[in-house]
Amino acid sequence: MTQSYEIIDHEFDVVVVGAGGAGLRAGFGCAEKGLRTAFISKVFPTRSHTVAAQGGISAALGNMGDGDDWRFHMYDTIKGSDWLADQDAVEYLCKEAIPAIIELEHYGVPFSRTAEGKIYQRAFGGMTTNYGKGTAQRTCAAADRTGHAILHTLYTQSLKHKAEFFIEYFALDLIMGEDGECLGVMAWDLDTGTLHRFRGHQTILATGGYGRAYFSCTSAHICTGDGGAMALRAGLPLQDMEFTQFHPTGIYGAGCLITEGVRGEGGYLTNSEGERFMERYAPSAKDLASRDVVSRSMTIEIREGRGVGPKKDHIHLNLMHLDPDIIGERLPGIAESARIFAGVDVTKEPIPVLPTVHYNMGGIQTNYKTEVINPTKKDPNKAVPGLMAIGEAGCVSVHGANRLGSNSLLDLVVFGRAAAIHCAETITPGATHKSLKGGDDGTKAIERLDHYRHAKGKTSTSALREKMQRVMQDHAAVFRTGDTLDAGVKAIDKCFKEKKDIGISDRSMIFNTDLVEALELDNLMSQAVVSMHSAANRKESRGAHAREDFPDRNDKTWMKHTVTWIDDKGKIKIDYRPVIMETLTDDIETIPPKKRVY
Ligand code: FUM
Repeated sequence: MTQSYEIIDHEFDVVVVGAGGAGLRAGFGCAEKGLRTAFISKVFPTRSHTVAAQGGISAALGNMGDGDDWRFHMYDTIKGSDWLADQDAVEYLCKEAIPAIIELEHYGVPFSRTAEGKIYQRAFGGMTTNYGKGTAQRTCAAADRTGHAILHTLYTQSLKHKAEFFIEYFALDLIMGEDGECLGVMAWDLDTGTLHRFRGHQTILATGGYGRAYFSCTSAHICTGDGGAMALRAGLPLQDMEFTQFHPTGIYGAGCLITEGVRGEGGYLTNSEGERFMERYAPSAKDLASRDVVSRSMTIEIREGRGVGPKKDHIHLNLMHLDPDIIGERLPGIAESARIFAGVDVTKEPIPVLPTVHYNMGGIQTNYKTEVINPTKKDPNKAVPGLMAIGEAGCVSVHGANRLGSNSLLDLVVFGRAAAIHCAETITPGATHKSLKGGDDGTKAIERLDHYRHAKGKTSTSALREKMQRVMQDHAAVFRTGDTLDAGVKAIDKCFKEKKDIGISDRSMIFNTDLVEALELDNLMSQAVVSMHSAANRKESRGAHAREDFPDRNDKTWMKHTVTWIDDKGKIKIDYRPVIMETLTDDIETIPPKKRVY
């Protein structure tokens, strides 16, 4: 029987769950427009994972190189996505990138500068000019700590506009009304042990990705996909969950990110023969091909016996030839990470690297206004009233089957801003909240919390988490086959069932990290299951989903988004949504599908 808990009520115009780059940009934008805005965050905002973003944020400013145009950026993004991205959303992303970055500059982001004082821009993978003909310098950087610079600036803007912060509050579940609308969210204050019901005319999920479903990833331990799991428990589907990005250059062993900016500044990869092998796989873009292409090439080199190290199981990233002053000025963070985590002096030795899970292209499906979509047969674009999703938690979809580097910080900022614009257009500040009668009043969230709080099973959270992570790492890897995926489906379904046997030992409510970790594992698990089933279901290769048994892209059958539901027993339902090929305006025509070569 569920213990009874006192609930503390709060009413806001907008409730933002998550205070990373996307959440802060949305929330401070709402507060700036006179909406009473609350942030709920399980960590202090400046510890959100955006802080770890290194290389930069893309926008066709044309400050460096041979000029630029947002249309080139759009072409690159659609091509990078392997034609799975929605073209209306990508047009919005690339066009709005320019004012969004200028705004960031004005808010105070300390971007690196060119000699003339303009924002410094570096080359990044898959970013070209003139529709693939030239190399773009499009990625605006603050050395190799761009996420850190943006996150801190957005936090100070949020304070300036008097948004209210509920820090170290762990969001439990959405409160869904009787007509399928979202009425707010339940949260647990870790510091005092109290439970809180937040009402909002819009609840914005900005909770980040679920990278920690894998054993080796660049994501922080907090990246447990809490918003995605809340959406699944509310009966909503997730989109394109089979597409997991492996960043080519995670530090071998530790998994920490070494920015693509290293290759943007002239660094290159070599195999055990000292060969710059990317020239064979991507003769034009070479080391600056898209991440899926580079990760696959590295994996092939290792498989064919040309990996480096005693076990021949990784690759070298070289930057010894770069001027040490340039490294000090533009890449100080990775020089430090390489020293600490690989024991390497980057001016003298190569960094040992390996493709490492970095980003989830899939997530909570939304339109370009960031409203969450719950497709029905009659209306594949039906919005869920009161619920929005942004950042890595969302799937808008601008990245399709493979995201280009530096389009993630951009996604956070552009669609965080879009969410604020939509809220300002649709919410009357201070309007009365709908009654909770008839739907959920937060009871379901409390029952779930109480279930885990008193769980007495024999399985520890850490043991089951590691089992799940290893299944994901082994079966939903850079290369996939029907056999490995089918075995992965069986193994991950078994992990899901084993959740029933979890036991925790701390029954308190104050800073009970034992309970937090169990809730986070539950969140990760549903998304791991959805990802594995979606991957086994997609019988083609596209972007980051590389099937050796179906090596080609198959537009006739598979140019569509996967939409996947899971129920509380772990039963999966899969459906599809058409890719939006129409652009938003007449400023650009649809970019037609073609073979993707770099
Ligand atoms: O390599 C990097 O700096 C990562 C950037 C990104 O994922 O966008």
